[in-house]
Amino acid sequence: MVVVRSMGYDDIDQIMEIERICFSLPWSKDSLEKELQNELAYYQCAEENGKIIGYMGMWRILDECHITNVAVLPDYRQRGAASMLINKMIEICKCSEIQSMTLEVRESNYPAINLYEKFGFVSAGKRPNYYLKPVEDAIIMWKKI
Ligand SMILES: CC(C)(COP(=O)(O)OP(=O)(O)OC[C@H]1O[C@@H](n2cnc3c(N)ncnc32)[C@H](O)[C@@H]1OP(=O)(O)O)[C@@H](O)C(=O)NCCC(=O)NCCS
Repeated sequence: MVVVRSMGYDDIDQIMEIERICFSLPWSKDSLEKELQNELAYYQCAEENGKIIGYMGMWRILDECHITNVAVLPDYRQRGAASMLINKMIEICKCSEIQSMTLEVRESNYPAINLYEKFGFVSAGKRPNYYLKPVEDAIIMWKKI
């Protein structure tokens, strides 16, 4: 059974492995530790039988939440884990009087764009050449809570 729970320092090694597998520019251990120290950051992970299979983060900025990352290990995708993480973050936003959520996504990342659209995020423009390795535009998406 998959459970979603807050992320802690003991989870960082597994999160680094997810980063390494899922992204061309993975976050460092130092960055992840700093995220956990940031009072304005919320980090949740999805765990199955003691193994972390995915995680998601966001920053609160005034009455907005900015999603920093969502990733699920390849062998565990398309089983609802990312949806569970997003639902948890929406719940946190609703309890914290957050008005809207926003994120950037690579314009070729159809699985992620589909995921966000399923949760009511809509495209609101582009950031040209926002990503590196490979260089690519970002689509900016917003959702009203
Ligand atoms: C994007 C990602 C987080 C989705 O995780 P997941 O656990 O597989 O997602 P879910 O099973 O909850 O799927 C929810 C919805 O996402 C969309 N989706 C997920 N995988 C998809 C795929 N391969 N193709 C098309 N749509 C997809 C669908 O709309 C799906 O709803 P449905 O099951 O009713 O069709 C995962 O593919 C991933 O980690 N990708 C690499 C990292 C990444 O790109 N992160 C996003 C950075 S902005």
